[in-house]
Amino acid sequence: MTDWSATPITPALGAVVRGVDLSRPLDDEDWARIDELFARYLVLVFPGQELTPDRHVEIGRHFGEPYIHPFLTAVEGHPAILEVLKEPDDDQPFGGEHWHCDISFTDPPSNVSLLYSLEIPEMGGDTLFANTALAYDHLSLQMQRLARGLRAHHTYPGRQEGDTGASAVHPVVWRDPTTGQRSLYANSAFVSRLDGMSRRESAPILAALFDHQTRPEFQCRVSWGPGQLVIWNNHATVHYALNDYPGVRRSLHRVTVLGTSVLSGNRN
Ligand code: SIN
Repeated sequence: MTDWSATPITPALGAVVRGVDLSRPLDDEDWARIDELFARYLVLVFPGQELTPDRHVEIGRHFGEPYIHPFLTAVEGHPAILEVLKEPDDDQPFGGEHWHCDISFTDPPSNVSLLYSLEIPEMGGDTLFANTALAYDHLSLQMQRLARGLRAHHTYPGRQEGDTGASAVHPVVWRDPTTGQRSLYANSAFVSRLDGMSRRESAPILAALFDHQTRPEFQCRVSWGPGQLVIWNNHATVHYALNDYPGVRRSLHRVTVLGTSVLSGNRN
């Protein structure tokens, strides 16, 4: 085991992990350490890594089954890797300007994403994360009870509810099967409405939950450096890619895996 350091980013979530070389195979002790840090911080930032696409996917496999996106084109030769790309003349970043978690329109949905930077702006293009387990804990008991009784329709943009592989219904409060930890599980990119309600009826309830779960107190901000791998929990966080670098190219590779449980320890 090497000499690692993990520096928290904010009291809410996130840690920068140094001293580990992810390009080489890790032993069980190393993985146990990563799992423990991941359970605690939900977002782990590993600066200065040199990863091949195959190694990126291999690291992803530790957390779940790599997802092959049925609607987006993968990186050539690597079906489980998506290029998160914004060209200098694109208006919108990849996935648009939304707080969201990745791949929530499948069953099971994604538990973990791993994003690796290739080409990044000198300034700007940071990613914000918010801890939705902390957000759940800070709801009133009445709102927690209300949220626990709700289910939401998650649908890939442009597809219909019920479309296979593009639409799923999930509880609005995710309960981790290992720990019992609850988190708010609804996001403004994919949730179309609450189950049993019209869109119009759903809208104010969803707006209140979306607003609450992204309060600044629940957030951290991740700046990108070259060769940086960021791993995050899609059940207990949402993220937002800042669109503040017009005229500059930004390119990263994303591996997203599907699974049910990731919160295997204590968190902040
Ligand atoms: C994503 O939404 O998965 C990409 C986030 C980013 O571009 O920072």
